[in-house]
Amino acid sequence: MALDDMRARITKDGIRIYEDADFAGMRAAGRVAADILDAVVPLVLPGTSTAAIDDFITEEIRRRGVTSATIGYKGYRHASCISVNHVVCHGIPGAKLLVDGDILNVDVTVIVDGWFGDTSRMYVAGQLARKAERLIEVTHEGLMRGIAAVKPGNTFGDIGHAIQAYVEANRMSVVRDFCGHGLGRVFHAPPNVLHYGRAGAGPVLEEGMFFTIEPMVNLGRPETKVLADDWTAVTRDKSLSAQFEHSVGVTATGCEIFTLSPAGKFHPTWG
Ligand code: MF3
Ligand code: CO
Ligand code: CO
Repeated sequence: MALDDMRARITKDGIRIYEDADFAGMRAAGRVAADILDAVVPLVLPGTSTAAIDDFITEEIRRRGVTSATIGYKGYRHASCISVNHVVCHGIPGAKLLVDGDILNVDVTVIVDGWFGDTSRMYVAGQLARKAERLIEVTHEGLMRGIAAVKPGNTFGDIGHAIQAYVEANRMSVVRDFCGHGLGRVFHAPPNVLHYGRAGAGPVLEEGMFFTIEPMVNLGRPETKVLADDWTAVTRDKSLSAQFEHSVGVTATGCEIFTLSPAGKFHPTWG
């Protein structure tokens, strides 16, 4: 263990408090992950396989001299998760070809100088249908409302509540079976960041906490199931699902988003 790891403060909820200087590491890692997601935009077309997109991401990671956090993680073998239509998360890239109107989440985590940058966003192959567009817009706005609740003194319940209230007001549902997570010099750390909840519940946010917010939103019911491959999570009712993920750090007055798109390409139709 490194000396600064031994000296680090951990809250009673097991959440590590990072130092001012650590923000630079997260900024660099988050930027690389977001930059790779920007580079994916022109590839997403009808007739492309999700394996081809993953191969491209593997090459982008290699070219930048950084490391994939997912290859070898719990036996996972790919540089991305690609979750198409009713796949909620952890979709495994494969030979199946995208068809016109498919919506997909691409989730990339890289390690840069020991820091983890974890981000995902939505893409469309071809023409975006109106109901899929609404789902994607509500999911993104839900994430941003969760992020707007991130400041010292607020709680993790405030984040979940902000997301849930917005999503349900739009008659969509928040997935309960997967959550965001602390990260930093590790991929997954306390706390579990729930995307639903009660205002004022849960651990209090403190400056120096690093975590992801990554709501999954369904057009239908919130229930999911994991397929026989032990990774792919789908909606039980086969309804469409969307997800966006940012890695953030709590500052004195709010938060810093480490994984903003350098090119402003966070929306599938603004690419
Ligand atoms: N990046 C995912 C997350 O947001 C985790 C993927 S783990 C994998 O936490 F093994 F499936 F890649
Ligand atoms: Co994550
Ligand atoms: Co992720």
